[in-house]
Amino acid sequence: MGNLVVKNAKQLVTCAGTAPKRGLDLGSVQVIEDGAIIVQGGIVDMVGTTEAIEEKLAHGHWYEDPEEFTTIDASGQVVVPGFVDPHTHACFTGSRHHEVEMRLAGKKYLEILAAGGGILGTVAKVRDCEEGALAEETYNRLMLMLSLGTTTVEIKSGYGLDTETELKMLRAIANASAMAREQVTVVPTFMGAHAVPPEFKADRPGYVDRICREMLPRIAESELATFCDVFCEEQVFPADDARRILATASQLGLGIKIHADEIGECGALGVGLELKAASVDHLLVTGEDGIRHLADSDTCGVLLPGTAFCLREGHFAPGRRMIDAGCAVALATDCNPGSCYTESMPLMMAMACFGMGLTPAEALNAATLNAAYSIGVADRTGSLEEGKAGDLVLLDCPDYRHLVYHFGINQVGMVVKKGELVYVRN
Ligand code: NIG
Ligand code: FE
Repeated sequence: MGNLVVKNAKQLVTCAGTAPKRGLDLGSVQVIEDGAIIVQGGIVDMVGTTEAIEEKLAHGHWYEDPEEFTTIDASGQVVVPGFVDPHTHACFTGSRHHEVEMRLAGKKYLEILAAGGGILGTVAKVRDCEEGALAEETYNRLMLMLSLGTTTVEIKSGYGLDTETELKMLRAIANASAMAREQVTVVPTFMGAHAVPPEFKADRPGYVDRICREMLPRIAESELATFCDVFCEEQVFPADDARRILATASQLGLGIKIHADEIGECGALGVGLELKAASVDHLLVTGEDGIRHLADSDTCGVLLPGTAFCLREGHFAPGRRMIDAGCAVALATDCNPGSCYTESMPLMMAMACFGMGLTPAEALNAATLNAAYSIGVADRTGSLEEGKAGDLVLLDCPDYRHLVYHFGINQVGMVVKKGELVYVRN
């Protein structure tokens, strides 16, 4: 919980506003030229111009001890809120690079899964992996994310697919988070319904039963997960299965998310909206009706342009249409070993702009404040406003739009989490 002052930023972009931002509001980020910020005890105390901040510091007799403040000169840099990555499968072991060539040769993602590969390939490796090693790998990924400016990340289980391995994954996620010692905030999600495991190959209802009667009560009791998510596709878990699993999770006090309309439209979006999900994710093939219903709800649409890119479906989610229709949208990496292996939120922002037609301001809001909203933490992080966590990124670029414009490189110079300097580019 640090005490910190950042001054002289070429731009300080607050992303301030009421979450979730929608429509025209999503297009405004609030840029303060020659910006500065005071963080006290890990919490943002004031945001303004360097002049206004210096004025306050000079007369701020209420600050405990000015010596205890670290000062950073951000001359020539741009300050933005720490990125929030609200959809990842970053707890895994093993590589599936061979699937890249299979997909490039025309094999479909679900064909690979049906043949026992894909998600199930990673399940075999995670079941074999010792808990400590899994935590270590996950921690390493968190540190890579941090170096790319991400200060809050959601991580799903879902490569265990039996009670003990799912719990092992959730403990590994908790341990990775503890190892990160508050440098990154982790929001854990239980995703036992990620695929049907081999031992239930011929008995999907039996597995759904297992999830509802055994896994979910154990997971809820363990308090290791905040949300429950389901991969809802006709060929994986159809809408009725998803409804039953998510309704059970909701009764047990878990928040709800759903992988919807990633490959086909099977009613997943409707299930998410009906159960008041925090987010419906992917939405690659969502049509006009779905967009209208989403716009009328408090549910956030989490768009994963990296996955659309890697699955080579030939199009992205209708992000532009969604924003114009008034949907709350956020961006995420989907970081996973199969359909999208990247930790980079700035790359997702670039893809959102060039692939879906978002503006750089919309992409930044979608990767910060709205992303925080989609995992229930917008009251704490996602924008630089008084009372929120001092989570911020110093970018080595002259304008925040370079995040999108100059893509594929890392522009992160420093990262501050709760007022502590946690990453400096060497
Ligand atoms: O969001 N669709 C299901 N789950 C992930 C991929 C996980 C994997 O392939 O390992 C997704 O695309
Ligand atoms: Fe996913």
